[in-house]
Amino acid sequence: MPAASEPASRLSESLLAFWADAGVDAMLLDEPVDRIAAGKVAPPRAPERKIAAAAAPPPVRPGQPDVSGAVAQARALAAEADNLEALVAAIAAFDGCPLKFEGAASQAVVYRGDPKAPLMVIGEGPGQEEDRQGQPFVGRAGQLLDRMLAAAGLTDRVLITNTVFWRPPGNRTPTPAEQAICAPFVERAIALAKPKMLLLAGGASAKAMLKKDEGILSLRGRWFEWRSNDGSLGIPALPTLHPAFLLRQPAAKKRAWADLLILTERLDRQDRPA
Ligand code: URA
Repeated sequence: MPAASEPASRLSESLLAFWADAGVDAMLLDEPVDRIAAGKVAPPRAPERKIAAAAAPPPVRPGQPDVSGAVAQARALAAEADNLEALVAAIAAFDGCPLKFEGAASQAVVYRGDPKAPLMVIGEGPGQEEDRQGQPFVGRAGQLLDRMLAAAGLTDRVLITNTVFWRPPGNRTPTPAEQAICAPFVERAIALAKPKMLLLAGGASAKAMLKKDEGILSLRGRWFEWRSNDGSLGIPALPTLHPAFLLRQPAAKKRAWADLLILTERLDRQDRPA
C-alpha cells in the first residue's frame, strides 16, 4: 500500500502508468453509457484526456518521417553488417530514425552483454542514463533487470538490446514508426547473435517484436515465435513485464519472476546434453 502521506498526484501518475503498461490506452466502451442520466455518478471532470495523453505515443503523420524509405535504408545497411560491431557502426551512421535528432543527447545505444549469449533481452528504448552511458539498461530499471537475471543464473548468458537505439524525448514510449525504422537492425542483431530465446521486456517491445495488439498483461508468460521479416528465422520469444513497471508496481515482481523461471528452465533444458 502507498504511504498515507503520498501526494494524490503521485498516486494518480503511478496508477496511470500501471494502466498504460498494461496496454489500457483508452477509457472507452463500444457503446456510450449515460451514467449521469442513470443518476449514479457526478459529471466527469475529464481525466480521460490525461490518460490518453500519458499512454499514447504521438501520432505518425503521413510522410513524416518517410518510414518506408527509412526502413529500406536501414535494411540495406543492416544487411551489409557481418558482425555486431559492424552493425553498431552502421546504426551510429544511420540518420533515418527521427529519435536520433529528438530525444538523444549523444550516442546510439545498441547492446551490452555477450554477443554469443543464448538469451537476448529486448527492451523498449534507452532512457536518460542509457543515453549518457551509451549502453542499454544501465539505469534503475536496468539494475533491477540485472538483479533478476543474476538471481536466475543468467548474468553471463545474455545480450541486451532495445527496439530503438536512441532515447525517445521525455522517455516516452517509442512509436510504431520509430520501432519499424529500427527493426531491420534489431532483426540483423538477432540473425548475427543467433540467440536461442528472446525475452521481450514490456508491452512496447512485445507488441512490436510479435506484431500483436494485446496488452502486456495478457501477453506475458506465454511463449510465441518471433519470425524474421522474410520468415527464414524463427526463435521462441517470451514477453514479460518491464523492469521499470516493476519499480512502480513491486507487487508485480512475482509474475516477472515466474516468467524468468519458465525461460531459464527452457534454456537449461536446451543446453543440457541429450
Ligand atoms: N528501458 C528500456 O526499455 N531500455 C533501456 O535500455 C532502459 C530502460
